[in-house]
Amino acid sequence: EKGGYPDFMLKEIHEQPRVIRDTLAGRLVDGHLAIDELDLSPEELNLIDRVYVIACGTSYHAGLIAKNLIEGWARIPCEVEVASEFRYRNPIITPSTLVVAVSQSGETADTLAAVRDARVKGAKVFGITNVVGSPLARESDGVIYTKANKEIAVASTKSFLGQVVSLTLLALLLAQAKGKLKTNQVRLLFHELADTAEQVEHILADTTAIDEAARACKDAKSALFVGRGMGAAISYEGALKLKEISYLHAEAYPAGEMKHGPIALIDEGFPVIAVATKSPVYDKLVSNIQEAKARGAMVVAVATEGDEDIRAHADHVIYIPKVRDAFSAITASVPLQLFARAIAVERNCDVDQPRNLAKSVTVE
Ligand code: M6R
Repeated sequence: EKGGYPDFMLKEIHEQPRVIRDTLAGRLVDGHLAIDELDLSPEELNLIDRVYVIACGTSYHAGLIAKNLIEGWARIPCEVEVASEFRYRNPIITPSTLVVAVSQSGETADTLAAVRDARVKGAKVFGITNVVGSPLARESDGVIYTKANKEIAVASTKSFLGQVVSLTLLALLLAQAKGKLKTNQVRLLFHELADTAEQVEHILADTTAIDEAARACKDAKSALFVGRGMGAAISYEGALKLKEISYLHAEAYPAGEMKHGPIALIDEGFPVIAVATKSPVYDKLVSNIQEAKARGAMVVAVATEGDEDIRAHADHVIYIPKVRDAFSAITASVPLQLFARAIAVERNCDVDQPRNLAKSVTVE
């Protein structure tokens, strides 16, 4: 059943190129985005003036990535909130609010409660889920399926990538409806998005640098993940993956926040994992890495192929193919999944069944 892999998590990580392809299949018809199941006309989409993405855990991190795309491309204010907070406050919801609920299982109690509440208050609700016919699918006005197929490992990997790709499609759709992107720009972006399947295959083909970095970090007590912009969102997911399967304490910070507190943690050999791919904030990030390194941090950098300069600032460099910053979550998340798993294996943890966790959380 594991298809020759030692655990389901590794098998599922390797399925990700297929998930990207399947999630995109049939979505560009005659050069136009086709997400008909959302059942909203371009005019109705154009009326949306606020988006909330609500979710828990890894699905919430997919939302953080979507915020960058929805605001960046469609210019619609977008807030991302964990469902257990959203449901107990009084968010501003009007009929022109779109709530996007993201849940692999489609049955997470807090996410469903938030969806019900938002609908009562008059919001349109889109669900993004991996499970056909799940409560989320049934209770949303429209649903996009992530096509990850059944995910068995408790730690989400392939469903996360499916969510990020689906949310990217939604951001493109909104941008097009708002007139912020032209049809030909959307088409170009769609093709670049599709190319990430091959780029992820390339990352999966050689994990030597990832495994070396994991061996160097395996005995640490704690680790800090940092990034800026998209890299910050990616860092949160990297830290969650590591702590949930290896029990190594990890947290993530936007790199610019380091000197406001977390840099105090850093002493000789403290692992700092930096998402340092080429982006508009690359130079800023590099100076944050230098500050950490000057205090003895062991820096692991996920960087763009061809970036030789980064070697001067990092102890371990994991190279990934160059992609547009908007798509960097799809590529940069993969080495962080493999890094977390490699550390968990080194620490003899049960990769697929971490202690205290269940695959779906159907009670509050
Ligand atoms: O099924 P959902 O996407 O609603 O689940 C949300 C979280 O419980 C889930 O992502 C959890 O954080 C995973 N263990 C992460 O790997």
